[in-house]
Parts: sequence; C-alpha cells; structure tokens
Amino acid sequence: MSEEKKNNSFIPLSRPTIEKDEIREVVDTLKSGWLTTGPKVIKFEEKFKEYVGSKFAIAVNSGTAALHLAYMACGIKDGDEVITTPLTFASTVNMLEVIGAKAVFVDINQDTFNIDVEKMEEKITSKTKAIIPVHFAGRPCEMDRILEIAKKHKLLVIEDAAHAVGTEYKNRRIGAGSSQAVCFSFHPIKNITTGEGGMVTTNNEELADKIRLLRFHGISKEAWKRYQKGASPLYEILVPGYKYNMMDIQAAIGLAQLKKLDYFIKIRTKLAKEYNEAFRNMAGIIHASMGGDNFRHAWHLYIVMFKTEYLKISREEIMLELQKRNIGCGIHFIAIHLHPYYKKKYGYRRGDLPKAEYVSDRIVSLPLFPKLQTADLRRVIESVREILENYKK
Ligand SMILES: Cc1ncc(COP(=O)(O)O)c(C=O)c1O
Repeated sequence: MSEEKKNNSFIPLSRPTIEKDEIREVVDTLKSGWLTTGPKVIKFEEKFKEYVGSKFAIAVNSGTAALHLAYMACGIKDGDEVITTPLTFASTVNMLEVIGAKAVFVDINQDTFNIDVEKMEEKITSKTKAIIPVHFAGRPCEMDRILEIAKKHKLLVIEDAAHAVGTEYKNRRIGAGSSQAVCFSFHPIKNITTGEGGMVTTNNEELADKIRLLRFHGISKEAWKRYQKGASPLYEILVPGYKYNMMDIQAAIGLAQLKKLDYFIKIRTKLAKEYNEAFRNMAGIIHASMGGDNFRHAWHLYIVMFKTEYLKISREEIMLELQKRNIGCGIHFIAIHLHPYYKKKYGYRRGDLPKAEYVSDRIVSLPLFPKLQTADLRRVIESVREILENYKK
C-alpha cells in the first residue's frame, strides 16, 4: 500500500482478531460431520468455566439469549421490578420487557459510567426482584456493595457482563462471583468472539440445569446425545423453551479466542493508556478513567466524552468529522429511557436521569482492537486534537 493510501485508509471502530488457529478449529469442525451443539460446545463451556472460575457455564447463541434465559431461570416474571442502569444496550432491558418485568433505572456514577450504587436503595420497592449491574466497557461495578444491598433486601443479582469477558474484581474474574448468574457476549466487537454467541455462568446447579433446558426447546435430551451411536432418539418436552443453543462452529472460534484473551486484554490496556496520555492535556475532552488497584479493566471499549458546551459543534458533528477523516466511531450508548418505546410506555423525560443523559449526549467510542496499529492510533489522536482546535469556542 502506498504511504498516502496508508495514511488515509479506513480505521474501523473494531475488528475481530481471526488468525490461523481460529480457522484451523473451524475447518476441523466442518470436517467432523457435526456442526451444531456438540463436543466443541462442551469443551468451550469447560474451558470458559475454568477461565472465569465458575462451577457451571452454559453456551448460547448471543448475549441477549444469555440474559433472557438467566432472567427466566431466576424466576423474574410479569409485574416484577428490576434495578439497572440506563446506560446500557437494548438487550439488558428489552429482555425484561418481553417477560413483562419493568426496569427501574438508577442514575450512573459519572466517573465510572457504571450504576451509582449509593442511589440504588432509594429505588427498591416491595415489587423489586433483582439488581442487574452492567460492567460498562469492561470496568467492573462495585460488586461487594451491590451484593450487600441485594442480601439486605433479599434480591437476586444477575450480572450483564457482555463487556466484561476477562474483567477482574478483587482478584477474581467476573463470572466467578456470588451473584446468581453472569451473562457474557461473544459478538464480534467483544474481547473474544464466536461470530455471535453468549454464555451464562453460575455456581447454582439447579439454575444451570434450568438454563440448559430452556436453551433448546425445553427438551430433556440434547440432539448431540440422542444421535450418538446406540443412543435412544427418544425425547420429552419438559417446558416450552427456546432455540438459543450455540453451534460447534461458533464454539470452535471461541476455543481459539479464549487462549488469547489475556494477551488481547494486555494490548487493549496498552492502547487505552496511550489514548489517555494523549487526551489528558487536551481541553474539551474527558478521557476514559483508567481505574484503581482492586480490579482489571478488560477495555472492551475506549470511550471519551466531548465537553460540547465548550465547543462549536455537537457530538453528532464530531462523529461526522471523524468519519470524514476515515475513522470509525460509535455511541455506547444512547440512554435507554430516551428511546421512543421506553419514553412512550413509562413517560420518561429528559431530566429524569441527568448524569446518564449528560454522558449519553457526549460520548464517542474510538477505535480499539488488538490489531490496531500504533500509527493508526496516533492518527485518531491527531484527528481528535485537530477537531478540538478547529471547533473550540
Ligand atoms: C451491555 C450489553 N448487554 C448485552 C448485549 C447483548 O449481547 P449480544 O449482542 O451478544 O446479544 C450487549 C451487546 O452489545 C451489550 O453491550
């Protein structure tokens, strides 16, 4: 590639790292004669539970499915209230809505972008059934405090760890903890991918069995077991379940990715540090917070906040300026209560959750992935510097 072309080539927001070992595992599966849930899924579940330190791991076909099944298996139902953050993806809340439960939002902590644990108890009522912390961008929530509040009020805790594959909190991996269930995502933007995919981890055997049953039509025996040589093909429907099972083709990618996860996080951390050092002294921007001593940030996303009150352009225009410079970017997230469905159904208005709104209006996710080249990272930094200079008030 010519120097000029290289200097202006598109830098995506994210790109999965797919190498020879992922391809080898997938080809091995394709040649094996068994493509759907089978030995590779079983192995991936084994390796994943070993990695996070949980007793059980159940692989599914998305993080959304993981949340849906965890909510159902924990007994969240019509009329229940569930405490969560407004700064999250659709799935955390949509999956409550589809089972008739209501998300009750607690505003965020503006330094961490995670749920403000000190405001949680104000929102607990006799209808509250659970707390769903979301480890935003790969930074863990204050789990000790959340579990303490849950214990005091007899609430369940289901962690949305879609961003937190590899996050550590007080020397333990997210997924190993004392909450009822932890839900992960392996969408291609995540720290490890299976194409699409998800996982629920738990230390509760009964819950694990329920999730396993619900993930495949509520059928007593999975296809892999029924179609083995000499096995009985008989089966029974025990509950009306879903079609949320992970395929072996997906698990094959996951097996290769999991081996490299810690290495991926090491590179992500290095890149995040480099961004932070550059942005530290730039006016008009607030860089991501690096974090403290008692956790490992998994750096799923690198998010900055533009102080648009000191700039002549809006966040949307900043993103257009980045796109003009061939730089991919994203918004994680538009606060849930500002979306038409939730506004209409529950009557939310601007001002209801001021911190989440302030952040949601100003954040931009910048390119971050293990194969991001230093020269490209510097091009992102220089572009941000130029935009801030050009449009300062
Ligand atoms: C916070 C959060 N929860 C859940 C999900 C759902 O994961 P999936 O896309 O694998 O269904 C996502 C996906 O981006 C997410 O960001």
